[in-house]
Amino acid sequence: MAATEGRTRCYHRRDVWRPPERIKHVAPDGGWPTAEQAAASRWFSPIELGPLRLRHRTWVPAMVPWRATEEGLVTDDVLAWYERFARGRPGAIVVEATGIRDIPSGPLLRIGHDRFVPGLRELVDTVHAASEGHTRVLVQIIDFLRIRRRPEPAKFFARFLELTDAHRAACPDAADDDEVRARLASMPDQMLARVLSARDYEALQFGFRERVTDTAHPHIRELPQVLPGLFADAAARAQAAGFDGVELHYAHAYTMASFLSARNDRDDGYGGDLDGRVRLPLEVFAAVRARVGEDFCVGCRFLAEEAIEGGSTVEDAKVFARRFAEAGMDFLSLSRGGKFEDAKPPKIGWAAYPYTGPSGYECMPTTLSDARGPFGRAVPAATRIRQAVRAAGLTTPIVVAGGICSFAQAEGILARGDADIVGAARQSIADPDWFRKVWLGRGDEVRRCLFTNYCEALDQKHKQVTCQLWDREGLDEPDVALAHDGRRRLVAPQWLTERVTKRR
Ligand SMILES: Cc1cc2nc3c(=O)[nH]c(=O)nc-3n(C[C@H](O)[C@H](O)[C@H](O)COP(=O)(O)O)c2cc1C
Ligand code: SF4
Repeated sequence: MAATEGRTRCYHRRDVWRPPERIKHVAPDGGWPTAEQAAASRWFSPIELGPLRLRHRTWVPAMVPWRATEEGLVTDDVLAWYERFARGRPGAIVVEATGIRDIPSGPLLRIGHDRFVPGLRELVDTVHAASEGHTRVLVQIIDFLRIRRRPEPAKFFARFLELTDAHRAACPDAADDDEVRARLASMPDQMLARVLSARDYEALQFGFRERVTDTAHPHIRELPQVLPGLFADAAARAQAAGFDGVELHYAHAYTMASFLSARNDRDDGYGGDLDGRVRLPLEVFAAVRARVGEDFCVGCRFLAEEAIEGGSTVEDAKVFARRFAEAGMDFLSLSRGGKFEDAKPPKIGWAAYPYTGPSGYECMPTTLSDARGPFGRAVPAATRIRQAVRAAGLTTPIVVAGGICSFAQAEGILARGDADIVGAARQSIADPDWFRKVWLGRGDEVRRCLFTNYCEALDQKHKQVTCQLWDREGLDEPDVALAHDGRRRLVAPQWLTERVTKRR
């Protein structure tokens, strides 16, 4: 079946920011090679990430598909999800953001205790077997701070808000604190924005969210003492489970990215200037390296740009990249944006999602865009960051992803020296076989991503992630696993012609 023949459903989202220009972009031509051209190409050539050799420079970046148990354990659905990518034989798959603490986190994979190791070992074995040893598998390890759902206003004023004299002064006739709470609850938003502190107003509109700068709280103040050990323990478990490497998650809206952020003004040596902001990420890496040794691949994913007001820029990222490379990281994977600071307010009862504002758009750009468009949007910043690393005499491989969905794009990026490895997240969901199809000279069979973010909307709701191009296909096939809603298949249908393909 031709790539574009997949049944599509009209899909428009109103709950996320879009560039006001609303220019409709069309996916670039695939530039599909013959099998011989693919074999001679840069994208399908090997590369070393420190001690780890990848057969190809093709890469599936981390993506959370919401398939773990509520306790964070690997399920059959997790195995099936990664097995499906592995059959496409990318050079590497990075397993989704996996929590390093032993705390309940919903159906997100966890690695914060030895009990998680057997399931993760099965996951590694599944990827190695399904790719017939072609694909290396890394795991992205993450720490995140507490975030609450947006509260019912009545509950917020009755229970959560700590009353201050400023609140009492705003309701001078109130007989007692209960009446102050009741009056506040009936105030219009505009007035509340003046009466409540900025943090309280944010907690009302978005739900309470901890920050790395909340150093009045001991558990936040002590993050620099606690996190190196937690990351090192998690990396050691990844090693014990047989992973080929770990990716330290220093990107997007989470703890480590918040330390790197230009908005981090901690005054304890772990914030402020660039040295202060990069200090904990370097200390975490040092602890991980000390634990797993030189023979285990360790890299990180961090932001080429935060893409928020007052956030880190490409210039900051150039410094971070050099420091990470000098410290001995084996690869640097770049992402963009994905911050809470510019997210849209969630509905009451929902948690804020850091991919709903302009920075979220930078992370997962869609076809309705500005003049730059979504395709390869991340490349110019990656080029500058790689140049900075090379100018310092360092050869650390740089991974770029973002709107890459064709051979021509990937090969151009490598030929120009913009990056060393080219990843594709959503294109790999749309067609997990696509790397193999291109390798076999059958690129015209690739089912091409529409870049409309139906999958990401499911992620936002913590629903099992699927693709609109295939999740209603062949629902009546025997043994097809369905999502909890019973209406969507959980993995892409098999590529039928694969069976008759000559093995390479
Ligand atoms: C459903 C979904 C889940 C994602 N989860 C993660 C994640 O766990 N960690 C991460 O670093 N990025 C995550 N991302 C971002 C992707 O890795 C990637 O950076 C982004 O989709 C842009 O690349 P693309 O244009 O090739 O899709 C996720 C993206 C999607 C669509
Ligand atoms: S992978 Fe996501 S963005 Fe691409 S077509 Fe499928 S649902 Fe749409």
